[in-house]
Amino acid sequence: CGIIGHVGDGNALETLLTGLENLEYRGYDSAGVAVQNGSGIAVQKRSGKVDELKDAVTDESLEGEVGIGHTRWSTHGPPTDENAHPHTDGTTDVAVVHNGIIENYAELKSWLRERGHEFTSDTDTEVIPHLIQYYLDRGLDNEAAFRRAIDELEGSYAVAAMLSGEHVLYAARKGSPLVVGIEDDEFFLASDVPAFLEYTDSVVYLEDGDVVVVEEDGIEFTNLEGEPIDRTPETVDWDPEQAGKGEYDHFMLKEIHEQPTSLAQAIEGRIDPEAERISLEGFDPGTFEGVDSVQLVACGTSYHAALYGSLALNSAGVQATALLANEYSVAAPPVDDDTLVIAVSQSGETADTLSALRRAKRHGADTLTVTNVVGSTAAREADDALFIRAGPEIGVAATKTFSSQAVMLVLLAQRIADDTRGEVPADLESLLPDLARMPEGIDDLLETSEADAVARHYLDSEAFFFIGRGLGFPVALEGALKFKEITYEHAEGFASGELKHGPLALVTPETPVFAIFTGEEDEKTLKNAEEAQTRGAPVIAVCPADHRAVEVADDHLEIPDVDSDLAGLFANVQLQLVSYYAADLLGRPIDKPRNLAKSVTVE
Ligand code: G6P
Repeated sequence: CGIIGHVGDGNALETLLTGLENLEYRGYDSAGVAVQNGSGIAVQKRSGKVDELKDAVTDESLEGEVGIGHTRWSTHGPPTDENAHPHTDGTTDVAVVHNGIIENYAELKSWLRERGHEFTSDTDTEVIPHLIQYYLDRGLDNEAAFRRAIDELEGSYAVAAMLSGEHVLYAARKGSPLVVGIEDDEFFLASDVPAFLEYTDSVVYLEDGDVVVVEEDGIEFTNLEGEPIDRTPETVDWDPEQAGKGEYDHFMLKEIHEQPTSLAQAIEGRIDPEAERISLEGFDPGTFEGVDSVQLVACGTSYHAALYGSLALNSAGVQATALLANEYSVAAPPVDDDTLVIAVSQSGETADTLSALRRAKRHGADTLTVTNVVGSTAAREADDALFIRAGPEIGVAATKTFSSQAVMLVLLAQRIADDTRGEVPADLESLLPDLARMPEGIDDLLETSEADAVARHYLDSEAFFFIGRGLGFPVALEGALKFKEITYEHAEGFASGELKHGPLALVTPETPVFAIFTGEEDEKTLKNAEEAQTRGAPVIAVCPADHRAVEVADDHLEIPDVDSDLAGLFANVQLQLVSYYAADLLGRPIDKPRNLAKSVTVE
C-alpha cells in the first residue's frame, strides 16, 4: 500500500493525487484522500484505481493545504469504498492512513465498541482514528491523543493522521516504511520516495519507533516517549525523469530497456578486468574469510535471483543454499556465526524477507542484504548492505532489478570464493571481460530481438513451459513467473532434466517449450527439448546463433556466446520481452497485474 501526506502552501489535493499516481504500483485496489478544508476534514475514497478517485474529487470541500492520501492493496476486508483509506471515526475530526497490520485490532475494536464506538469497515486501520477520538474525548490534546493511540497498537505500521482545526500531520513508523520529504516550507510524508520525487530530493528515512509532527513551520522528530531525536535529511539521486514512463507505453518495457544502464551502474567500480579482481565498496579483501556457508533468503523474482546467486556460489566452490523467505521460519537450516545469510530484496521491505533476516540475526548469523533501496528496512537491519543501483522500478513485474541482483550476486560469489578459498577463482578470467561488455551486449540484444514475433506466433497456446539447466534453471523459473504474472496464462518453469520425470505428461502441440542454453551440459538440455518436441511441442531455443539447438528448434531467440555465469541473464531479457509482448497483445494491464503488488509488507 502507499501513503502520501502534504503540509505547506499550495493545494494539497494536487500533490496527493500526483503522489498516489506515483505510488500506484504499491497497491491499486482502492484509493482515497482527506483534506483539511477550514471547517473540518473532508474525505473522498473509492475502490478501483487512482483515476477513478480523480474523477470523484471535483468537490470544493477538498480544497486545503494539508492532506493525506492512500492507495491500498487489501489485507483486511475486500476492496470496497468503505474499506478504502483514509479512515475516520465517523466524524470530521480525525482521518488516518495506515500501512501494515494491527495484530490486536480485534481486541481494540471490541473494547471501543463497548464504549459506544461504531465501525463501518472490515479494516484493522479503523481502530486508529477511533482510539485517537477516544483520547481526545478524555481531554488529551491532539499530539498526546495520537501518541496514546500509537502506544496501544501491536503489529506493524506506518501511520499518518490529521486532526481538524490545525495544519499539522502526525506520523509514526514501526515495521513499515515511511519517509519525509522537505522542500523549503513544504513537507511531504510518504511510504516511498517516488511519491514526491518531482517536488523534492531531500528526504529523511524514519526509523522504527519514530514519531513525527509535521507543521507548516517545521518538523519535530521524536521517539515513542516524546524525546527529541536527530534525523538528518539525505539527498536521493533518483531523478523524476527516471520515475516517469518516457517514450514507452509501459513502465515494464521502459525498465527492460533500461538494463544496459542499470547493469552498467551495478558493475561500475566493482570490476577491474586488468587486475582480475572484484572490489565491493565497504568489503575489504578478507571480509568473508570466516564464512563457511551462505544462505540466501528472498521471495518472488528476488528468490530466482537468490537461486541464481546460490548456484554461482556453488560453482565458485562456496557452500550455498537459496531459501524462500516465507518458508524460512518453519524450515530454516541451522545457522551459526560462520553462516552468512543474504537477504535479497528489491524493495528491502518485503515482510517475509525481513522476518527471515531477523530470524537469522537472532540465531547468530552474519547478515547482508542485496537491495535496490538505500534507507530500506533491510538495508538498515542487516549487518551490511550492497546496493544494486538499478534506479526506481515501477512496473510490478520486476525486470531490471532481477538482472542487477543476479549480477551483484555473481560478483559477490567471486569475492566470497576469493576470501574463503584464498584464491581467485579460475573462471574469473573469462567472466570479467564478458561482465564489462554486458551492458553493450544487452543493448544489442534489445535492438535485434525477435521476441515480439515469437510472442505473437504462440499466443493462442494452452500453456507455456520454460526449461533450463544449471544457471538456466532459475532463469526458466523467472521466465515462467514473468509470463504468468502479466499474461494470466498458465506458465511453468522446470529444470530441463526434470521434464521427463512428470511434466512431460502435460506436453502437447499446444504447449510451446522455451529451452534456455547457458553452456552447462547443453547437449542434455537439447535432448530434453527434443523429448518434448517428439510429443508435438514446438521448441523455442534461447541460445547463441551458431548453437546446434538452432537447427533442431522450431524458433530461435538469440543471445551472445558469453560466459555461462552470464548467458542466462541475456536469455532472461529475451524472455522478459516475450512476456511483455504476449501480455500487450492480450491487452493486459501490464504494469499493474491483477491481485499483485510491488512490495508486500505483510507475511
Ligand atoms: C512481490 C512482487 C514481486 C517481487 C516480490 C519480492 O510479490 O509482486 O514482483 O519479486 O514481492 O519483492 P522484493 O522487493 O523483496 O524483491
